[in-house]
Amino acid sequence: MSHEDEGWLEGGIREVLIRPEEIAARVQELGRQISLDYAGRELVMIGVLKGVLFFMADLLRCVTVPVEVDFLAVSSYSHKNDRQGGVRLLKDLEISIEGRHVLFVEDMVDTGLTLNYLLRNLQARQPASLEVCAFLNKSKNRLMEIPLKYRGFDVPDRFVVGYGLDYREQYRNLPFIGLLKGDRL
Ligand code: IMP
Ligand code: MG
Repeated sequence: MSHEDEGWLEGGIREVLIRPEEIAARVQELGRQISLDYAGRELVMIGVLKGVLFFMADLLRCVTVPVEVDFLAVSSYSHKNDRQGGVRLLKDLEISIEGRHVLFVEDMVDTGLTLNYLLRNLQARQPASLEVCAFLNKSKNRLMEIPLKYRGFDVPDRFVVGYGLDYREQYRNLPFIGLLKGDRL
């Protein structure tokens, strides 16, 4: 059955950008690479709620080294014109990451402001190592240089939804990455 048959497109999606099969294959590759890179070490995977929900869940099941999981939540208002940051921590970690190998997992890196703020915050807690894994990367609007060790897909400068990513809290449940009908061409 194609996704067109499932009625998603009627619900405001213009086009499927990344299909579920492509997502699954890429996540498996990332999981394999992470498992190789962290062989013999214990990992702490930290995700940013809520967009990272599906990616993190799928990625975790492809990682074969011992791994602990924790989450952060940040305020998600637009801050494209606020280069000072404008990021606020709504939920902090529950576990200590001091001396631990931390892999920070994000749904999307756009300007990089959110990630830059969070990486500085985490680095101050003195982890043994700190790397970043982003599911999607939009490099066109990047304002801060971000060391992205792992990335799922590069996407164009368009607003995308699905697989955890939302537009006004909707569309997170789509099994694919799609473009909204209202998005400019
Ligand atoms: P940054 O600080 O500009 O890198 O913001 C990244 C955050 O903005 C991501 O974690 C997403 O939550 C959100 N975001 C950026 N682009 C999109 C998009 O195309 N769809 C949905 N959320 C997005
Ligand atoms: Mg996010």
